[in-house]
Formats: sequence, C-alpha cells, structure tokens
Amino acid sequence: MEKLKIQGGGPLKGEVWISGSKNAALPILSATLLSEGLATVSNLPHLQDVTTTIELLGSLGVTVSIDDKLQLEVDNSTLHSVTAPYELVKTMRASILVLGPLLSRYGEANVSFPGGCAIGSRPVDLHLRGLEAMGATIEIDEGYIKARSSGRLVGCHILMDVVSVGATENLMMAAVLAEGQTVIENAAREPEIVDLANCLNAWGADIQGIGSARLVINGVEKITGGHFKVMPDRIETGTYLAAAVATRGKVKVTQTDPSSLEAVLLKLEEAGAQITQGEDWIELDMQGKRPKAVNIKTAPYPAFPTDMQAQVTAINAVAEGTGVVIETIFENRLMQVQELNRMGATITVEGNTALVTGVERLNAAPVMASDLRASAALVIAALVADGETTVERIYHIDRGYECIEEKMQLLGAKIKRVTN
Ligand code: UD1
Repeated sequence: MEKLKIQGGGPLKGEVWISGSKNAALPILSATLLSEGLATVSNLPHLQDVTTTIELLGSLGVTVSIDDKLQLEVDNSTLHSVTAPYELVKTMRASILVLGPLLSRYGEANVSFPGGCAIGSRPVDLHLRGLEAMGATIEIDEGYIKARSSGRLVGCHILMDVVSVGATENLMMAAVLAEGQTVIENAAREPEIVDLANCLNAWGADIQGIGSARLVINGVEKITGGHFKVMPDRIETGTYLAAAVATRGKVKVTQTDPSSLEAVLLKLEEAGAQITQGEDWIELDMQGKRPKAVNIKTAPYPAFPTDMQAQVTAINAVAEGTGVVIETIFENRLMQVQELNRMGATITVEGNTALVTGVERLNAAPVMASDLRASAALVIAALVADGETTVERIYHIDRGYECIEEKMQLLGAKIKRVTN
C-alpha cells in the first residue's frame, strides 16, 4: 500500500500547471461510444478513473489507442459487448455514464448497479426514469441494470426534480441519437456538462441551451466523431489555490480556466487572498498572512461546489475565527473532519453542518484518506502541521489528482510517496 509522507512547513510558492478535467474526461470518453467514426480526445489527465474508463471501453471490445500526439483514439467498430461488469463499476461509479450512450446507439445496455459509496447513497433513479421516458424498458436483474429499446429512443420532455450532474450527462448523451426533440428541464449546469455538450456538438450532435438549466436536444441520425480537447480541471485548480491560502503562500496556476471557478475564487478572496487572473492562469497571494475563516454552503453550479468543500474546511481549520460549512449535496461528506481533529483541529459536526474554529497550527498525525476530496483536505492540513504526517489509502487521491507529489514539490512542499 502506498502512502504520502508530508513534512509540514512554510508557504507554498511557485507555479504549477493544471491537468485536464477528470469529471469532463469521464463522460466524454463514454460519449465516444456514440460515434460512428474515429473519436480522438486530448488533454486527458493521467488518473486511475480515466484508466478504469479506458479499461471499461476495452472490455466492451472498443479499440483504444494513443496516437503520435498523445491523444486517445477510440474506434468502436470492434465493439462486441454491451455489458459494464461489476468488477469495473464497483471501483468507479461514473461507469454508469456508459448506460445512455450504449442504449441509444446499440439498443441495449447492461450496467452493474452502482452501490452507495463513502460520501452517500448516490442513487441513479433519475438516470433510469429519464431513459424510460425516452421509451426504454429497464429491469434490474442479478445486480445489473438491463436497459432495452426497440428501435431508436424517442425524444421527450424530462423534468429533473433533483439537479444531477451524472443524470444530465447520461440523458443528454442518450438524447443526441433519439428520434425528435428532448427537453431536459432543471438540468445541471456544471462546466463539465458544457464541455461534454460542446464535444457532442463538435461530433455532430444538435444541443441547444448549453450552460443553461433547459437543454434542448434535437436528435440526429449519427454522431460522426472527430477531435475534442478536454477542459482544465477546475477542482484541481481550486485545490492548489486552497493549499496556497492555508499555507499563507503565493501560487500561480496555469493552463486553467478562471471562469469556471467564480464561486471558489470569491471565497478565497474573502479568506484574505489577493487574486489576479488572465485568460488561462490565476495567481493567488496571501502575502504571508493567516487566512480568515469563511462560511460556505455547497449547491449545484454556479454556487459553491461540493468537490471544494473539504479543502475549504481545511483552510478554516487553521484560519482566524470560526467558519460554518454546510454540505447540501451529499449526506456523508464531512468525513475529513474526524481526521482533521486528530491533527488538532477544532471542528464540530451537527447533521450536514461543520462548525470550524481555526487554530494557529495543526500537529502531524497518521491519517487515513476516506474519499477523493477528503484526502485533498488531509494533504492541505499536513502542509500546515508541525511534524511529518502520513496519509494512508492514497489510492483515493490518485483517482483525481495527477502527479500530486510532483506538483506539490514544484511549489516547495516536502512530500514523498512511500510503499509499505
Ligand atoms: C458528479 C461528480 C462529483 C460531484 C457531483 C456533484 C463526476 C464523475 N462526479 O457526481 O465529483 O461531487 O457531481 O457536483 O462528474 N441524485 C439522485 N438521483 C439520481 C442521481 C443523483 O437523487 O439519479 C442525487 C445524489 O444523491 C446527490 C445529488 O443528486 O445528492 C447530486 O448528485 P450528482 O450530481 O448526480 O452527482 P454525480 O453525477 O454522481
């Protein structure tokens, strides 16, 4: 088992580049299943979840190769299976994103039912209801979602009673090849959905209302394929900036998109950061000052993202004052709190709310990563702790952060990966 050993120290300083977005890459890789021609995707991050998705495509018979420009080339003319097996789905819930494309293009799909996960129960009822509304029949058999459609799916009106990123993506992908028009109301508006929609349109789809809560999808006969470059990862961006705030540092992130991070940047400014930005970079300077505690409440985009909640909780843990953190998206996403308290933080949790009273410094301790973003919070805490912190179960971090120790080292962090 690999661990990270982090020696807490001074401020992070320097420049780091941002990788392609994990949460845009996963649906875009699933969308390649819709394509009749070759689809190429660039700026893919080197992450475990991307590898799992490529493995999943491979298990369906799809030919995936890397071309001379390091772009992934996907050719699904060799597809021979429509089953996403339990072994892969259990390691990555986002595997559910192949359901819409497989059903829409091939008329059938069997996807292992994704279970709950550490951060909450995470149902898929909205995905299934939307597909049924488009004419699919769905049954759950031996732990698998078995979806069938006789002929093309049929466009329809879908109102989502909960804003869901995954359901919006799955239904949008299914609708592009459906007969007629599909309208998705109360659609999620996350930048990754915009990226997916732009990709689908570049490959021949007709999606209107991109970036709004009302998506209008006019079904087309075929998706032709082509090339698409994945957007930068806004959560990775936010995580390095949060680490700079907590450590009172000065960090420039490049190859990113500041416009996708408005709510996060506002909060970091409130915490005392001076922020300057250009088209594809952000520079954050704490001028050596201790951050001020901030209140956050997570909600669907454009509000504050749940995927940045744990990192801001870590800032609050060492900030001046008390910050209130309210998590409204997932019911069990304050798991970093227990570990932060083991490092000397003073955080109390009541339901979905954490009350964080900042301390001057934390103390190193052996801690355990419980999910992807909670583990990022532990890394940030370790950077401002006295002594050497060991973070275990870092496979969670590797699902979402490319080369985290190399990138942190670029900023002056004393961090290394060790194997038991
Ligand atoms: C995606 C992101 C994840 C992020 C989350 C919220 C990917 C691969 N993952 O996850 O990083 O934290 O969005 O921004 O992009 N829900 C239902 N029924 C459904 C589907 C969802 O009730 O059928 C509920 C969920 O339990 C949750 C809420 O809707 O409470 C939002 O979940 P959703 O937006 O679907 O998250 P994911 O797409 O799984």
